Amino acid sequence: MTIATTPALDWQVTRNLAARSPQERDAILANPGFGQHFTDHTVDVCWSVGGGWHRPRVQPYGPISLDPSAAVLHYGQEIFEGLKAYRHADGSIWTFRPEANAARMQRSARRLALPELPVEYFIDALEQLIAIDGEWVPSEPETSLYLRPFMFAKEAFLGVRPANKVAFYLIASPAGPYFSGGVAPVSIWLSTNYARAGKGGTGAAKTGGNYASSLLPQAEAAENGCQQVLFLSEDTYLEELGGMNVVLVYRDGTLVTPDSDSILEGITRDSILQLARDRGHRVEQRRVTIDEWREGAASGDITEVFACGTAAVVTPIGQLKAADFTIGSPDAVAGEVTMSLREELTDIQYGRVEDRHGWLHRLDN
Ligand SMILES: Cc1ncc(COP(=O)(O)O)c(C=O)c1O
Repeated sequence: MTIATTPALDWQVTRNLAARSPQERDAILANPGFGQHFTDHTVDVCWSVGGGWHRPRVQPYGPISLDPSAAVLHYGQEIFEGLKAYRHADGSIWTFRPEANAARMQRSARRLALPELPVEYFIDALEQLIAIDGEWVPSEPETSLYLRPFMFAKEAFLGVRPANKVAFYLIASPAGPYFSGGVAPVSIWLSTNYARAGKGGTGAAKTGGNYASSLLPQAEAAENGCQQVLFLSEDTYLEELGGMNVVLVYRDGTLVTPDSDSILEGITRDSILQLARDRGHRVEQRRVTIDEWREGAASGDITEVFACGTAAVVTPIGQLKAADFTIGSPDAVAGEVTMSLREELTDIQYGRVEDRHGWLHRLDN
């Protein structure tokens, strides 16, 4: 009997001769911000209809050369992922549930008619980048190296069909603590003029177009003094924020989060809900109306609301502002359940407590 396996990639590694010096790197790592600086190398793998996945390379970080007719520039056939590498106290480097990001990237690929990168290649790519750029993983508390895999249609043609040539890339960017002055509740804006996704659309895929369409409502949120925007479906049901999922905490300890096939299934949310279940909380994934939130907040049945995602982990929501009503207050304090779930998850990610679910994957072997 033969068992089908994915052939191992034969990486071609080209070192960056202009890589930053240890002093230059340390200066960046002392204050990395988010998404501002990039490591010295990229990883990329080509795909074509006849050739499958081929030419796996580790190369110096630099501009990508694209034909002006490359399909991604016209039709947006593109997907991406986001996860982090964490440095533990003993210096080792780990990431969190990478196979879940790899599987989500495959689901996004299916929806965008892109090829599915095998999970093994996704994880191999992360290990290749850390093997060459591992020194870029910062070690200060709550810092990380943000990993950004992405895939796009690079075939040069005009016409609405799936591209026959595609590129997968991985870049990485050191990230400082998301909340520099400690975790603080945010205000969010209820978007009623715009939707993020529709039934049968691409809402569940991590594709650039979803984010492009969130920029205008996000600007509206900022004009109204809010940091994030909340989207509804059918003008009624909670969906998610522009880049995070949302969870309501009830007085009896129940956690409720929207069930929808047009939101991105967050890996942070899934993990937080598992930790809550482990503690004995009831967890419900179901449709939630904006009225349920309004009435629950008014009656005191809903005691906390938080957003969650890889970048900020867990963010308490202090206030929801809409054109004609407001829930909560900008001076709200972070809830206890929110903060203790946040702490437990980050303790696992940074290796401070036992990883009882086997979520961590070591990257520096
Ligand atoms: C639209 C959207 N929803 C939810 C999430 C949270 O997903 P995750 O927890 O996997 O980062 C993200 C962030 O990646 C996102 O962009």
